Amino acid sequence: MSSDAANQNTVVVGLQWGDEGKGKIVDLLAGQARHVVRFQGGNNAGHTLVVDGQTVILHLIPSGVLQPDTTCIIGNGVVVDPEVLVHELDALEARGHHITPDALLLSADAHLVLPIHRTLDGLREQALGGAKIGTTKKGIGPDYEDKDARRGIRAGALLDLARFERHISGTLTEKNRIFRDWYGAEEVSSEQLEAWAEPLARRLAPFIGDAVSHLHSALDRGERILFEGAQGTYLDVDHGTYPFVTSSNTVAGNAAAGTGVGPRDLHAVVGIAKAYATRVGSGPFPTQLDDVEEEALRAKGGEFGATTGRPRSCGWFDAPMVRHAVRLNGVTHLALTKLDILSGIDTLKIAVDHDTPPGAERFSGSPVYEDAPGWSEDISSCRTWEGLPANCRAYVERIEALVGVRAGLISVGPGREQVIPRDPLFR
Ligand code: GDP
Ligand code: IMO
Ligand code: MG
Repeated sequence: MSSDAANQNTVVVGLQWGDEGKGKIVDLLAGQARHVVRFQGGNNAGHTLVVDGQTVILHLIPSGVLQPDTTCIIGNGVVVDPEVLVHELDALEARGHHITPDALLLSADAHLVLPIHRTLDGLREQALGGAKIGTTKKGIGPDYEDKDARRGIRAGALLDLARFERHISGTLTEKNRIFRDWYGAEEVSSEQLEAWAEPLARRLAPFIGDAVSHLHSALDRGERILFEGAQGTYLDVDHGTYPFVTSSNTVAGNAAAGTGVGPRDLHAVVGIAKAYATRVGSGPFPTQLDDVEEEALRAKGGEFGATTGRPRSCGWFDAPMVRHAVRLNGVTHLALTKLDILSGIDTLKIAVDHDTPPGAERFSGSPVYEDAPGWSEDISSCRTWEGLPANCRAYVERIEALVGVRAGLISVGPGREQVIPRDPLFR
């Protein structure tokens, strides 16, 4: 591993259930990187950037887009809804950010999310009733299914609509059977899909290309690449709280497969954790607060989904889960976010263990808590470690000891400048 922080290709991942602040940290690190590449997920992600008081929420375009000298790449591992991508380009344009094909490259190998995937996602969730996953209904699961079943459509097909038409027929025949016979829903014609794709193809064609070659040329020139993860470790399809997970590997190891860059070129792994915990959608959440406390933390932290607007469940920091996530991702640097939100709570709790019976699923037992004294000061203007209240520093140090990695960056507000960098990687 290179010791020179400036030359390190860095993977940024979430260590909890998503929404840890990946957008903010990637935007910050992108100031020193030439390329930012997303490697998995789709527009189930909502990554928030706050720059000069302006809030931008990104779903598909990598979070380096507001940095003037950074190229953004959507890697092969991402599933891309072309309609959402066009909306996102338009929304940025409306705010004065004109995105040219020099600034954004969409891998021709990335799979396309089609309206039939969104429909199927919604129908499946509805059918599951109380057992639903709580997906974002963006079609992510059904699209990754088609990819793995080898009947997906890739972005490159938008460059040749005859190919698009040939390729959709297989998946469409099958989906229509499911819509009609299983769900009693309306069928979709290939003409409808082609009419949908045609204007999107025209708009996106200049952005579609060979992302693997682009990234390898960048590596040859020694240019720094940032790999932007989406979701979080406990939404990983293998390592998360299955089946209440997303349909991709969210862990850092997938940064290689999802972009075509070999693992030897991944040098640092920034794991982001909120100073507490949140989760949106169904599934286990061991440290969830009771209703009244949860409501207060949700209101203070603005914990509503950036993609669906759903209220996020809130809970205490779960150290064993984050420690396990540190191992799964090979985290070299911890970034601890939203510490400012904990100001004003008399006594904080940290889960230090789980009372899990032998043979039961990992982390399925009741959490065992330790108390930590809180602090009352507003820390959102603080920019130095020494400037933080003593109890606040003690809270961070306790987390560091429990998860086994130093907090190289502490975030104390949504703004790009609201950080306390402690490690050269973040300076
Ligand atoms: P992501 O999906 O990991 O990029 O995170 P989201 O953007 O979905 O959610 C994180 C939210 O917290 C966003 O509204 C951010 O603007 C905000 N945020 C990030 N870091 C901080 C922080 O340190 N303090 C506060 N108060 N808000 C933060
Ligand atoms: P970012 O990148 C938080 C959750 C959904 C649901 C589960 C499966 O902003 O951190 P899916 O639509 O992926 O099939 O839903 O995963 N989920 C997220 N939760 N942040 C995200 O992304 C998420 N993306 C998916 O709520 O529980
Ligand atoms: Mg988010």
